Amino acid sequence: MSLKNDILELLINQKEALSGEEIAKKFNVSRAAIWKCIQSLNDEGYKIEGKSNCGYILNENIDIYSKEYLTYYLNQPFHIEIFNEINSTSTYLKKIVNEGNENCLVCAYKQSNGRGRTGKSFFSPENGLYFSFSFKPKEKQDLTLITIKVGLAVIHAIKKLFNLDCEIKWVNDVYYLQKKVCGILCEALIDFESKDINAIMIGIGINLYMPQIPDELKDVAISLNVKNANKNLLIATIMNEVLSSSISNLKMINEYKEKCILMNREITFTINNISYNGIVKDINNEGNLVVLVDNHLMYLKSGEVSLGSKKYEKKNH
Ligand code: BTN
Repeated sequence: MSLKNDILELLINQKEALSGEEIAKKFNVSRAAIWKCIQSLNDEGYKIEGKSNCGYILNENIDIYSKEYLTYYLNQPFHIEIFNEINSTSTYLKKIVNEGNENCLVCAYKQSNGRGRTGKSFFSPENGLYFSFSFKPKEKQDLTLITIKVGLAVIHAIKKLFNLDCEIKWVNDVYYLQKKVCGILCEALIDFESKDINAIMIGIGINLYMPQIPDELKDVAISLNVKNANKNLLIATIMNEVLSSSISNLKMINEYKEKCILMNREITFTINNISYNGIVKDINNEGNLVVLVDNHLMYLKSGEVSLGSKKYEKKNH
C-alpha cells in the first residue's frame, strides 16, 4: 500500500484531528511528504482540512467513490473496482464473477451501455449512481424475494440519508413523485447441473442528480436532485441491508405491499404475446403479483406491468 493510502485509512479511522507531525512520526517520513500526500488526496476529491494548532481532519461528506470509505462502511469485505466510465457495471461484474471472484463491487460514474431488465437499455449519464455487487447466498434463496429485499433496501437508504419518500412498482422499479428514479437488475449465476445459485448479482442505478431529463424520458423518469451525495455511504447502506438477513419474509412482504404503487390498481401486462388487464389484489408470500383478470386470479412471478388499462388485444408479432 502507498503512503497516501495509509494516511487516508488512518484519517478515516481516526475521528479526531491528527497533526502533520504525529502522522509523519507514525509512518517515519517527513512532514513535507505527509503534506504532499494530503494535497494529492484533496486533488482526488477528498476533503482533508488542515486546522492550525489542531491538525488534519477528514470530512466524510465526499461525492467521489472511494475504495477506502466503501471498505470502512461495509459490514463485510468486498473486492472493489471503480471506473470513471464503463459499458455496464453489471456486464463487467458478470465477467469477473465468471472468472471466479467472490463478493465483488463495481462502481462507475457513467455507463455507455447500461443494461435494464428484459434487454432494455438504462440511461446512465454522469452524476448518477451506478453499481453492481455479487454475493453467494447463505442458504437457498428465492430470487423474487431477493429482488423485493433490494427494492426495500434502496427505499430505506434514500429515506435515511436524504429524508425523501419513495415507493415501489412491482417488481423492482423505485419511484419518487410517481416517476421512476431507480432501476434494479437482479441476475444469478446458476450451476447447470445442481441448479444451485453460485452467485447473485445485483445492479442498481439511481438518478441522483439529473437536472436535465431528456425529453423522451421526462414523463416517466425523475431524479432525486441531490447534489454531491455521499455515494459510498449510500451504496454501503443499501448493501448492508441486503446482506443482513434479520427481517422475516412476512414482515418484508407486508412492508413491500404498503409501498407498492400497484395495490388495488388496474394494470396491463403481456404473457405469450397476449395483453391482459386486471386489478392487483395482493402480493403473495413468494413475492408474486396476484391479479384479478376476468374473475380469475393470475400469479405473476416476473415481468413488466404498466399502470392503467388497455383493451385486450392479441399481438401478431
Ligand atoms: C431496469 O430498470 O430495467 C433495471 C436497470 C438497472 C440499471 C443498473 S445501473 C448499474 C447496473 N449496470 C447496468 O448495466 N445495469 C444496472
